[in-house]
Amino acid sequence: MKAVLNIAHRGASGHAPENTMAAFERCIELGATAIETDVQMTSDGSLVLIHDESLARTAGSPKLVKDVTLEELQRLDAGSWFDPAFRGERVPTLRELLELVKPYSLLLNLELKNGVVPYPGLEEAVVEEVRRFGMSDRVILSSFNHYSLVKCKRLAPEVRTGILYMEGLYEPWDYASRIGAEALHAYHYAVLPEWVAQAAERGIAYHPFTVNEPAEMRRLLAAGVSGIITDYPDRLAELLKDAEVPGG
Ligand code: G3P
Ligand code: MG
Repeated sequence: MKAVLNIAHRGASGHAPENTMAAFERCIELGATAIETDVQMTSDGSLVLIHDESLARTAGSPKLVKDVTLEELQRLDAGSWFDPAFRGERVPTLRELLELVKPYSLLLNLELKNGVVPYPGLEEAVVEEVRRFGMSDRVILSSFNHYSLVKCKRLAPEVRTGILYMEGLYEPWDYASRIGAEALHAYHYAVLPEWVAQAAERGIAYHPFTVNEPAEMRRLLAAGVSGIITDYPDRLAELLKDAEVPGG
């Protein structure tokens, strides 16, 4: 059986400011086997890792990501909002994260944040960067914008895609097959054991988000999910370690 993926949501975002190099480095130390992060684009076309379209919450500027250059963006402090100890953390580029994980065996789940701001050319730019690093087989592209996922699959059939959704979609494994996606990135309440089994029969994996409570992690592991997206990869690593012990 394949190991369950321990996917750190925005890095170890329970311990360090989300989507910063500090959070990415920390999750590797804590036992993550994959990293989920959010990709957007600056006004000068750089791929950057940040969740909100606005810089207000995590970088203290009223501007939108799409309206600043990389140079302007990287002058902002993306760490202090979380804890003053992280002052000086910057909004990283996708390239910085690819450089960090390249020597490890970690997978990357790149969520294209193009549901609100469309970012023309985002799919092409992400695929090009991933291919430049020779990491096509270590990336899962996901998005709430499923048109974007179809576009990614056309551009790069060799890169896996995961469908992000919140609701109780009816037989989403059929939908996944139809749009060529390999995984269902479902809100964790939209995951029941019988659905996981039916999806698995068709070769479709479940990677629910965002699961921070050990009891809910246990429920999903028992349901047979292929991975869990969490802010606390240390908690999941602990459960997975126990699961490896015979009789554990
Ligand atoms: O990819 C899982 C999760 O990150 C999706 O929601 O809003 O946290 O990016 P959000
Ligand atoms: Mg995300």
